[in-house]
Amino acid sequence: MSDVVGYEIAGRVAVLTIDNPPVNALGHAVREGIVAGMERAAADGNADAIVLIGAGRTFPAGADIREFDQPSREPHLMAVIDRLDGIEKPIVAAIHGTALGGGLELTLGCHFRVASPSARVGTPEVNLGIFPGAAGTQRLPRVAGLDHALELIVMGRPIGAATALEYGIVDEIIEGDLRAGAIAFAEKILAAGTPRRISSEPRDGIGAPQEHAATIEKYRDLANSRFRGQDSPHQAIESVIDGLRMPYEDAVMADRVRFEACKNSGQSAALRYAFFAEREAAKIPDIGKDIAPREINTAGVIGAGTMGRGIAISLADSGLPVTIVETGREALDAAMAEIVKLYEAMVARGRIDEATKAERLGRITGAVDYSALSHADLVIEVAFEDMDVKKQIFGALEKVAKPGAVLATNTSYMDIDAIAATTSRPEDIIGLHYFAPANVMRMLEVVRPANCAPDAIATGMALAKRTGKVGVLAGVCHGFVANRSRLPLVREATFLVEEGASPAQVDKVLTDLGMPMGPLAVSDLSGLDVSWRMRQSLADERDPVARYMHLADRMCELGRFGIKAGQGWYGYEDGGRRPQLDPEVEVVAAAVAKLQGITRRDISDDEIGARCLYAAINEGAKILDEGIAARASDIDVMWLYGFAFPRWRGGIMFMADEIGLGKILDQIKAFEGIHGKLWTPSPLLERLVAEGGSFTR
Ligand code: 3HC
Repeated sequence: MSDVVGYEIAGRVAVLTIDNPPVNALGHAVREGIVAGMERAAADGNADAIVLIGAGRTFPAGADIREFDQPSREPHLMAVIDRLDGIEKPIVAAIHGTALGGGLELTLGCHFRVASPSARVGTPEVNLGIFPGAAGTQRLPRVAGLDHALELIVMGRPIGAATALEYGIVDEIIEGDLRAGAIAFAEKILAAGTPRRISSEPRDGIGAPQEHAATIEKYRDLANSRFRGQDSPHQAIESVIDGLRMPYEDAVMADRVRFEACKNSGQSAALRYAFFAEREAAKIPDIGKDIAPREINTAGVIGAGTMGRGIAISLADSGLPVTIVETGREALDAAMAEIVKLYEAMVARGRIDEATKAERLGRITGAVDYSALSHADLVIEVAFEDMDVKKQIFGALEKVAKPGAVLATNTSYMDIDAIAATTSRPEDIIGLHYFAPANVMRMLEVVRPANCAPDAIATGMALAKRTGKVGVLAGVCHGFVANRSRLPLVREATFLVEEGASPAQVDKVLTDLGMPMGPLAVSDLSGLDVSWRMRQSLADERDPVARYMHLADRMCELGRFGIKAGQGWYGYEDGGRRPQLDPEVEVVAAAVAKLQGITRRDISDDEIGARCLYAAINEGAKILDEGIAARASDIDVMWLYGFAFPRWRGGIMFMADEIGLGKILDQIKAFEGIHGKLWTPSPLLERLVAEGGSFTR
């Protein structure tokens, strides 16, 4: 008897229940249990049909990803699924929760599929750098047709039960009790004598690739745009094409080889790392499940600039009533009008319908007085980045906010401990650092001041989850984790331009690495004046020995603030957003270099890559060493979600381990010799190299 696959007889139906929490992943024991249960049912004189169902929250959500790094053990999932073809009794898969990857493939081995209305099915394997490797690329096109199969396999996005029914993946939707409904469905099949449907048939292929050229091309284009630089979606397409030109048996043999190559690739290792890193980030080492988040039923936002409006929308979209407070009626009305416009744009783009727009807008109200926040369970301050302004706001807020309300600041770099110290309730104060645009970007940095209560932090993390964001914890320091670790990359990018590289050369090295935009193009987009103001506010603390961003300052002095000014690191013609070479930048860079005594030179792409990336890695190591980030993988999650770092590279800290910490340290020391103090190696990096350790393994 299997511990993880139960066996019962209900009427004339054998019910096999997979019970392997939390998501019934198809690990070795489950695979063995399914085979044993199926053989038993096949031989059981009391069973004329078989139902396969999952216990708990879901039908299997896929192969057990943790087994990917171990030697593979028989029976392989492919063999389990192929075996089902030969079982003479009808097998019905009863799907609830999420039948994903190998889970969906397992249902394709069953002869019929029924699902709960809320079930979702899909093949998200491309997100792990692989593709459906248990014959999904062969069976799904036979069941759902090539276009729908490629949609699922290449894009990796699950679909709901109703769509699955429409695609022919599911035969019936069961309202109410799924187990009882599936048994009734099996009995109906038996009574009607419906022949078993075997999804590996026809065995001799399903039409020549040339007949489907347009569909295949469509998905190649989608793979290129949605998964830039990533190989697995293309391998998935090739695998599906194999099925078009080869008999089933040959195609699955070819699949095997292709799948193993994908599974063993660096991209898959990085993507699997990212999968677990993201889930790990949700766990805060000293805040266990026993610390419940505070209840949040209403929220407030102070300040309705671009960021404040985005935050209000994000909160309203998740179902929370939000009160926005602005300084005056005019500013408030203008902000509310902008919010209406944003929702109208969502309707125009087909993202939401009119009813949803009205519902969400109905959750947002405006006020010009803090007393309107007295009932809010959470208030997020999104005012100007000025310490006095922040202190004043929190001083006023603490007087009206109800006891136990979480009071958050969205500052992106300021000392939240200092803000909290001016209030009488530091236990309620946290940082919630959103990324622009706040209603779109999934990153939420939850910043933990020294004296805040653990349940206030738990509330911040819960809010992230509730609003569909990825919450990652950070400690207090200038720029916290995300911006602090990215700043050195931007710094080096500007130094490199000072030293002789063009903005386009610098940006290209980073886009070639897989980043969607180079750092200088990003600065143009967000505005060079933002960090200029920050540098000015920190002028007193500036280290006179360390190299300074003179060129970036000069650009701002010349009004080259980026896209909004029509000029920045690039030129922008006629109010456009397309960066174009602007020879003036080189003139400015040369003048600044001369003043600083820098001899301009040709700079190699390798140097640009190392300068930008290693500077960020070195800072990441310092952040980790200071305990500002709890884990190296938390830094990586922030880069993936905050800066769209290519997921198939894992993140900067994972990349550092891939490159080799010894090599990186040697290079950092060499840069220190040339460029001075900003390149002082992180003590943690030095320790790890001495011990043969790593950041992420
Ligand atoms: N293998 C191993 N562990 C898994 C897993 C899997 N396939 N799927 C989820 N888990 C673990 C998570 O790591 C997490 O563990 P933790 O509690 O120790 O952190 C736990 O299950 C719960 O997962 P979530 O926190 O993600 O729970 P949610 O409810 O938010 O989401 C889910 C559930 C939608 C199933 C989500 O976990 C998910 O998307 N899982 C991955 C699905 C997937 O990629 N399947 C394909 C696998 S590869 C495959 O099948 C290859 C085949 O083609 C041969």
